[in-house]
Amino acid sequence: MENSIITETVNFVKIKLKNAEAGHDWFHIERVWKLSKKISQKEGGEIEIIELGALLHDIADPKFHDGDEELALKISREFLESQNLEEEKIVKVLFIIKNISFKNRNEKTEISELNPVKELHIVQDADRLDAIGAIGIARTFNFGGFKNNLMYDPEILPKLKMSKEEYKKSNGTTINHFYEKLLLLKDLMNTETAKKMAEKRHDFMQTFLDEFLGEWEVKF
Ligand code: ADP
Ligand code: NI
Repeated sequence: MENSIITETVNFVKIKLKNAEAGHDWFHIERVWKLSKKISQKEGGEIEIIELGALLHDIADPKFHDGDEELALKISREFLESQNLEEEKIVKVLFIIKNISFKNRNEKTEISELNPVKELHIVQDADRLDAIGAIGIARTFNFGGFKNNLMYDPEILPKLKMSKEEYKKSNGTTINHFYEKLLLLKDLMNTETAKKMAEKRHDFMQTFLDEFLGEWEVKF
């Protein structure tokens, strides 16, 4: 039988993200949910925590909520309490939501019994897989369009490992986002399962970039 809290969460998230930008909408959540389940089949972890973490991980992204880092935690806690989920499980789900972001990847996470590192790692890998490959390319251009950013600026040569100053000068072009984030994700996967899945997606992005930059320079 389907777990009813999962069904309730799906309905809640769909409504909450009704007007979201296409790269961070319900369909992104659905893909991350499916990817998380697939990775968990190989890697294990407590499936209910993984599913709830995947479903709620972008419920209130700070980028779209004036930088408010606490809102997603507040909304998720209120919702999970309304579903009578045990406090111990709520704490575990909130730990995933709090620590999943690429932006905060260098912050130390406290390890304890209530901090389900394996479950975090699985949902984080799923979120990162959805940021690369064909879908990753589409999401990134959609976000760039949503922000009215330049696709590419030929005066700023894209390269990996830019300095902070170079980032600032790069104008946040969409092509630059590949170099500041997307091409780095393959090596940041936590699980062996996701590392393997990332290879094809990474190669496809690299091919896309070679074509894009080649066409821009009219090389062929
Ligand atoms: P995280 O939640 O892991 O910190 P983000 O929400 O910032 O990640 O990014 C998710 C996706 O949104 C990226 O993979 C990309 O597709 C898109 N995105 C975020 N920032 C930018 C940007 N500056 N330019 C283009 N796309 C972006
Ligand atoms: Ni996400």
